[in-house]
Amino acid sequence: MFYPEELVEEVRMKNDIVGVVSGYVRLQKKGSNHWGCCPFHNEKTPSFAVSESKQMFHCFGCGVSGNVYTFVMKYENYTFPEAIKLLAERAGVNLPELEYSDEMKKKANKRARLLEVNKEAAKFFYYQLRSPHGEIGHKYLEKRELSEETMHKFGLGYAGKNGTMLVEYLRGKGFEDSLIKEAGLANYSEKHGMSSQFWNRVMFPIQDINHRVIGFGGRVMGDGEPKYLNSPETPIFDKRRNLYGLNFARTARSGNLIICEGYMDVIAMHQAGFTQAVASLGTAFTSEQAMLLKRYTENVLLAYDSDGAGVKAALRGIGILREAGLTGKVINMKPYKDPDEFMKNLGKEAFQERIAQAENSFFFEIRILSEQYNMQDPEEKTRFHREIAKKLCEFQEDAERENYLQAIAEKYFIGIENLRKLMLGYAAQTGLAKPVERPKSGIQSKRTPEENGKRAQRLLITWLADEPALYEKINRYISAEDFTEDLYRKVTERLFSDLSQGNYNPAAIISMFEDEEEQREAAALFHTNLPELTTVQEREKAFHDILLAVKKNSYEYYTARLGTDVNALSQAVAAKKALEDMAKAHISLE
Ligand code: GTP
Ligand code: MN
Repeated sequence: MFYPEELVEEVRMKNDIVGVVSGYVRLQKKGSNHWGCCPFHNEKTPSFAVSESKQMFHCFGCGVSGNVYTFVMKYENYTFPEAIKLLAERAGVNLPELEYSDEMKKKANKRARLLEVNKEAAKFFYYQLRSPHGEIGHKYLEKRELSEETMHKFGLGYAGKNGTMLVEYLRGKGFEDSLIKEAGLANYSEKHGMSSQFWNRVMFPIQDINHRVIGFGGRVMGDGEPKYLNSPETPIFDKRRNLYGLNFARTARSGNLIICEGYMDVIAMHQAGFTQAVASLGTAFTSEQAMLLKRYTENVLLAYDSDGAGVKAALRGIGILREAGLTGKVINMKPYKDPDEFMKNLGKEAFQERIAQAENSFFFEIRILSEQYNMQDPEEKTRFHREIAKKLCEFQEDAERENYLQAIAEKYFIGIENLRKLMLGYAAQTGLAKPVERPKSGIQSKRTPEENGKRAQRLLITWLADEPALYEKINRYISAEDFTEDLYRKVTERLFSDLSQGNYNPAAIISMFEDEEEQREAAALFHTNLPELTTVQEREKAFHDILLAVKKNSYEYYTARLGTDVNALSQAVAAKKALEDMAKAHISLE
């Protein structure tokens, strides 16, 4: 912990989770929770619940959960110290300046150090570009018609001719060789020692949504292989989950976002005023990136290259967008290759027109498909119609499928009824896409005994969190030691101590963990799906079963450790006794 626990708690309490989440997700109150569509997975009907009383969130679809810190960490891709900084500012709480001792410096996590070294490297490249050494880079960018202002906005730079200057510079700033290597900025070889990964290239720092440099792309000036050299993936550089330019595009307020293929396209677009442009990071567009876009807009436009490879990439991108629940549109770049070239030749007004004329992605797919068939040939024409029918089946919603059926039939002069028949025939063969069914939860389902033991522990924690008054009735049978998972035990130690003092507070328990994954796991303990039972008898039976299962698991756990764990014997004996007592006991839930 960097900060005292009381401070962490104060900041948490001053940031009502409903208020914070509302800043990012549209929520609606229903019952005791506020509901919205989960920002961490794709869904059309809300299963993301924010509880005001518990000060926690939980998604019943994908299982994410946590308190207000977890939310900010996940959403903003922040570390714990960064999240607390943001929330403290939001609530007007002053955080003390952290004095990093040498000890803490070592401990300060790897991510922070990688971000620092990247920031320094970006500064180095930036100043190189503006120094006499960097003139050649500067000239190159000028030739590509980038203004000084644009170069500055994107922090463009130049990696010197010499492979050791960057390394010397970073060493001088106190970065160890191992870190410089891990950031992908330099490589070590016996012959040359440490030498920079990038040299004699113009540099494009890649920033995350919070403007932090997470990696680099470097372009040769002129011809040469490879054209672009990108940083390798590192703990802070996940190419699947970031988009070039999104740090600016997220606040563009243009009502849409435009995906391009290259960094240069993004930069040229921003320079022309299309600040909603982004690009993937030298790799194919991913579903994670689609989800990221979906946080900001429903309208995504593709501005891919007009060549064969670009069309293929666009078709792939459309599929990914559709899976994420987004309908993409495709911007026609012809007769030019990409947005950069298009605007250089026809100007931004013409590009604006192309945006307005962007083609619905389904129409685009069908049009590309149509080019493969000779419509003069009845056989080929029928095959084309069959392919359309097949593609129509991909729409999950009846209304949507029907609308497209009608539109396509009209566009390609196909009889509606004929096309519908083809489609229904195809659907009958393969079945229309069905939503995934979620299994009902229950303790007796087919799981390993270990899984069942863990599950019982989770159920008990949720139940106690929902009905804290029950704790008094069971504390003679159950203790934190009965929770055989490390993290569960840490949670229950705190939970039981809070409950016995009558100040129970699950969201505070989550803040005991700084690691996002641990927070998620701890928070999920408070959101198990409890069996839905109506009568008191049913509920009492279920509760009793869960209690017994927890105790039985604990007994077996400690019995298996007899002889290796000094506490095992006393725990096992106590568990056996409690099991016998419980078998006779009646625990009333009324
Ligand atoms: P310019 O030629 O500078 O206009 O580049 P561009 O932005 O038009 O790039 P292009 O369409 O050739 O490529 C699109 C994107 O693919 C680039 O921005 C890079 O992210 C990536 N890319 C291109 N060439 C290479 C390469 O040789 N290696 C790698 N790893 N990525 C590349
Ligand atoms: Mn280009």
